Amino acid sequence: MSVFPIYRPRRLRANENLRRLVRETHLSVDDLIYPMFVVHGENTAIEISSMPGCYQYSIDKLVIAAQELASLGIPATILFGIPATKDSHGSEAYSEDGIIQQAVRAIKDTVPDLLVITDVCLCEYTDHGHCGIIEDGEVLNDPTLDFLVKESLSHAHAGVDVIAPSDMMDGRVGTIRDALDDEGYEHIPIMAYSAKYASAFYGPFREAAESAPQFGDRRSYQMDPANAEEALREVTLDVEEGADIVMVKPALSYLDVIYQVKTEFQMPVAAYNVSGEYAMVKAAAQNGWIDEKRVALELLTSVKRAGADMILTYFAKSAVKWLDQ
Ligand code: PBG
Repeated sequence: MSVFPIYRPRRLRANENLRRLVRETHLSVDDLIYPMFVVHGENTAIEISSMPGCYQYSIDKLVIAAQELASLGIPATILFGIPATKDSHGSEAYSEDGIIQQAVRAIKDTVPDLLVITDVCLCEYTDHGHCGIIEDGEVLNDPTLDFLVKESLSHAHAGVDVIAPSDMMDGRVGTIRDALDDEGYEHIPIMAYSAKYASAFYGPFREAAESAPQFGDRRSYQMDPANAEEALREVTLDVEEGADIVMVKPALSYLDVIYQVKTEFQMPVAAYNVSGEYAMVKAAAQNGWIDEKRVALELLTSVKRAGADMILTYFAKSAVKWLDQ
């Protein structure tokens, strides 16, 4: 490569048309997945105070929101449910007429063009708020797998398009894959939350999904934020167990992990731009401290540049509107 004064990088930055031609990363509507929260009841849309612009929807309102996503051209939603009652084993998570099962049927009946992904986990459904079955204050691994299988199958029966296990139990991807295949659901892909960190950035989500752990924390099953090699081992296991898409979560503090996963594996990579990452931008923008649109698009572009093929983000709807402007 030639050097200054022969090579002048500024030549190709001189105007927007030149910048368009040399732009390396293109964020598009095709990359976006919009998360939504669903509650029992009717005609309900409760705004989540720490996530302005995001709501807990009853099913009738959820369907309208799903229609909006489809009309914006967003390919997919991921659904989180808030049950009517919680118990020690998270029964509503795998009930055939649980909130998620009803929501999946309603969206698939009315908005067939929208891909429906479901988060498979117990924490929204258990009274203790942990992602698995508890004994003597410990989250048990293998007994939890049976419940995750029941939950996945009930989502499959309801017509879900993609299953996304987020519990971080060992062996869950393979166990769920086997169960789906045995029941004739070999066509349903698994998007695995493979490198999911024990992150403080999930705070607002736990308000939205009413899923804060009632004792302790999730560090005995979610990953230590300090570890990247371990993330690659987690991804290796999930790929070997049959994951179709691997996810890194959160996104912004883990761009190096996204990059390494994309570089080391020939797999579609998803990144979850989580609730706390959204809330920080919203709060700063509401104070007039940053330009929400420019900051959000810069962040989403950075996640894509790091190697993500798709981004789960609460900014999805706004991003599509901004990208169209
Ligand atoms: C469920 C789950 C969580 C998120 C997605 N699935 C919360 C958690 O693990 O505590 C977080 C999403 C977000 O913060 O936007 N296990």
